[in-house]
Amino acid sequence: MKLEWQRSTVRDIPLYYNPKVSGLRMDTSTNPLGANPAAKEALKECMEMDLNQYPSPYSDRLRDALGELYSLPPEDFVVGNGSDEALDIIFKSFLEPGEGVILPYPGYSLHSYFVKVNAGRPVFVDLKDDFQLDVEKLNRAKGKVLLLCNPNNPTSNTFRHQDIEAVIEGVPDRIVVVDEAYGEFAGKSFIPELEDYENVIVTRTFSKAYALAGMRIGYAVSNPELADVMQRVKIPYSLNRVSEAVALKALKDQEFVRHSVKVVNEGRKQLHEGLERLGFQVFLSEANFILFKGNLDHKLLVERLAKKGVMIRDFGDKRRMENCVRTTIGTERMNQLLLDKLAEVLRECR
Ligand SMILES: Cc1ncc(COP(=O)(O)O)c(C=O)c1O
Repeated sequence: MKLEWQRSTVRDIPLYYNPKVSGLRMDTSTNPLGANPAAKEALKECMEMDLNQYPSPYSDRLRDALGELYSLPPEDFVVGNGSDEALDIIFKSFLEPGEGVILPYPGYSLHSYFVKVNAGRPVFVDLKDDFQLDVEKLNRAKGKVLLLCNPNNPTSNTFRHQDIEAVIEGVPDRIVVVDEAYGEFAGKSFIPELEDYENVIVTRTFSKAYALAGMRIGYAVSNPELADVMQRVKIPYSLNRVSEAVALKALKDQEFVRHSVKVVNEGRKQLHEGLERLGFQVFLSEANFILFKGNLDHKLLVERLAKKGVMIRDFGDKRRMENCVRTTIGTERMNQLLLDKLAEVLRECR
């Protein structure tokens, strides 16, 4: 194949994380309680569904239900195949080829992927040493869109609210996207403030607090003008009928979401203290995952742990994250298993 055949903006895209080992999945920041119970119920009803017919092109019923949940008009929502699709739609809708997208670093690796596959140019701006937003640098950076992740993956902290406001208000003629994939765990959201701004979009997902990662459901929410542009760009029918039915049931069970957040909050304390007892440096988390690092080499740590049946995610080769690894916060039992296996690895490698 000739290199020139490949679009220049996608030449350096690696394959996504696709581990070939199996074990307890504490590497994907999913919900430790297992699949949302609403899913089983909805799937039973789906047996009668006429799958010969297309879904609603814009997932109207789900947008109605989301509107009810947030007391916003359904027209403010654009539903997609995971919040990943929502991010893709944003760049498809607003980015000209070659335009810059400002990305605080370190951040979610797929953010730059979506910029590149839409022929944009990632403009990375380092977070400060405490992983907070560098407002001055972000407001000096050139780009049509600024995309930040709150709580931030993989650093696990949230950004100060006044800093988010400062990067939105500091440069009014750019679009600011707040990726709130983990928003429920922090109990924070920019959605109530969307009506104050004409340039802000929030993305959210059913993959984390709603425990439905396998169903691929997410959405963008914004003002009606931006949402209308995105709706017209999105691939019609991108959310299948079964996923929409499951999402509708899951939205009705807010108690499950509250319980998930409670389990994670309790587990965060258990893991933070346990990891510190083992000698790791632990970063402050407001998400359902924790970033930590120790003296043992990150690759060795992750590999040895996987051999013992527990998978965590390695970030240790990345700039500003030297030797760091990330674990999902699990149930008490999962966390204890992780801590026990970590202790064994440390003993064996001493
Ligand atoms: C920060 C962030 N945004 C978006 C996503 C994608 O979520 P979804 O499963 O809704 O596509 C993830 C998934 O891990 C994430 O970490």
